[in-house]
Amino acid sequence: MCGIVGYIGHREAYPIVLKGLQRLEYRGYDSAGIALYDDKNLKVSKTKGKVADLKAKMESELDSTSGTLGIGHTRWATHGVPNDVNSHPHLSNSGDLVIIHNGIIENYESLKKELTKRGYKFESDTDTEVLVNLIEDVIAKEGVKLGKAVQIALNQTVGAYAIAVFDKKKPNEIVVARLGSPLAIGVGKDEYFIASDASPFIEFTNNAIYLEDGEMAVVRRDKGVKVRKIHDDSLVDPYIQELQLNLEQIEKNNFDHFMLKEIYEQPNAIKDTYRGRLHAEEGIIRMAGIDDNLERFLNARRIIIVACGTSWHAGLVAEYIFEDLARIPVEVEYASEFRYRNPIINSDDVVIAISQSGETADTMAAIKLAKEKGAFVFGVCNVVGSSISRETNAGAYTHAGPEIGVASTKAFTTQITVLTLIALKLAKAKGSMSNTDFHMHLQELETIPQKIEIALQGNDHIKEVAFKYKDARNCLYLGRGFNFPVALEGALKLKEISYIHAEGYPAAEMKHGPIALIDEEMPVVVIATRKGHYEKVVSNIQEIKSRQGKIIGIVTEGDTSVRDLADYVIEVPDTIESLTPLITTIPLQLLSYHIAVMLGKNVDQPRNLAKSVTVE
Ligand code: F6R
Repeated sequence: MCGIVGYIGHREAYPIVLKGLQRLEYRGYDSAGIALYDDKNLKVSKTKGKVADLKAKMESELDSTSGTLGIGHTRWATHGVPNDVNSHPHLSNSGDLVIIHNGIIENYESLKKELTKRGYKFESDTDTEVLVNLIEDVIAKEGVKLGKAVQIALNQTVGAYAIAVFDKKKPNEIVVARLGSPLAIGVGKDEYFIASDASPFIEFTNNAIYLEDGEMAVVRRDKGVKVRKIHDDSLVDPYIQELQLNLEQIEKNNFDHFMLKEIYEQPNAIKDTYRGRLHAEEGIIRMAGIDDNLERFLNARRIIIVACGTSWHAGLVAEYIFEDLARIPVEVEYASEFRYRNPIINSDDVVIAISQSGETADTMAAIKLAKEKGAFVFGVCNVVGSSISRETNAGAYTHAGPEIGVASTKAFTTQITVLTLIALKLAKAKGSMSNTDFHMHLQELETIPQKIEIALQGNDHIKEVAFKYKDARNCLYLGRGFNFPVALEGALKLKEISYIHAEGYPAAEMKHGPIALIDEEMPVVVIATRKGHYEKVVSNIQEIKSRQGKIIGIVTEGDTSVRDLADYVIEVPDTIESLTPLITTIPLQLLSYHIAVMLGKNVDQPRNLAKSVTVE
């Protein structure tokens, strides 16, 4: 939630900060702002709206955008509605200190009361304006430098933050700090970049320092980066990491939207997920995180999966896969519920936390709770070095590459791929699967990317179906077994990017309530592949048909039974039952995408959402 960018060095800061904000817009996009300092003047411009609106405003209202020091922010509102005044950067009362902030200062009201008593005035409704004045107040009271003042002020706060702050009277340094929100420092030659992730500076440097929670840094144009702990002031020797990211991964290339690009990336993303792990010919799966902790998994009383949103749906698919293949009991929990419901959990349990961003606040809190109670916690994350990947006892990355479209696509299928590899590995170690079956699964998993390519070839037909149903006001998604979570995911994709109300249900559950909704206006998407309760799903389709519902069947190539009943069918290649979710998901992603585009919605940045949900 919220993206922050900063630059200090010898280049013009404005184009770097602006481009950086465009790349971070997936994190929040209800308002944006930039502050620049050019050795004489501080220029601050901010606006409700997108980074493009900010660019137009800055270029029309400022005489110049020059300056080699700059910070910028793209916002997902927490405190105060999105408007120009609440946008960041925020200035202290003297106008000297400038701050950008991603996170929430929970005790801001009491701090604000104290500062108000001391004569401070506030223009905005934000917690951030309180923080910058608190820092100013510390400087006034204690006569300390900016770095020390930031440290003292942060020790008085409760909450989460990634901040960057500078003093226009000392324009050779930016002070940054993090707790609970990500912050990377790009290290160039006599120049430094600050950002919520490395994408804003990837064309300038491959070297980055990722601050750990509870660390702050003073970044000096001439003297480099000094990192210390906020709490006890101890110095930290920063680890400079070499980045694996490249520019192509974070650009749209020839696609109209990141979401479409990411849908099409799935064959390669899945190959990247299993590369080096899946050795189908030898009949081996190598995963260091599992190999090193095999006994913990094998002796687990049960596996508890915690996640949110699409990642939770991947967890539900995994529940079917783990129980079917590895015969280990699994429970899947919304992280936000788990963390507050005093769960019964102990050292015999293994918790798997799934998160694309690796920053989701609820998932992080669930992990901390599970660890406190003695469970072993394994992470499945996409973003390398993310907070969750560091907090967990062990883990496996999905290696899907950056996912920028706010609606998750390749994250989902690569999470399922990792979880399938884990289930197969445990099944083999436990002997819960025959050798023949195990080998067959490995070989089939290796063919999935090619089968997804075939499913993607249905795009034009899916677009026609989308055109037919784009004006629907409601939509039902049904699936059974392994494909029930896919129905949930299909419905989530539609509602989040097209704002059409959609519900996912187990197909057989329809008769216990949702059937009342069915009439000639209601499109019902039914996943009816040949494997898995096929006849039963066909009966459910009959029930919809007799109530005049409009049926869109996701069927196995060559199917005729559903074709006879449905208004439209979308064919996908056949595979073994446990792997069908990897393929049936694809047409549902494309269907939502096309409907949203036809309705003129902002597919990559749907309203009210943000890519990484670092607030409760
Ligand atoms: C939906 C979507 C969200 C995320 C959820 C968890 O398309 O993207 O539902 O899946 O916010 O995010 P991560 O996986 O980053 O923890």
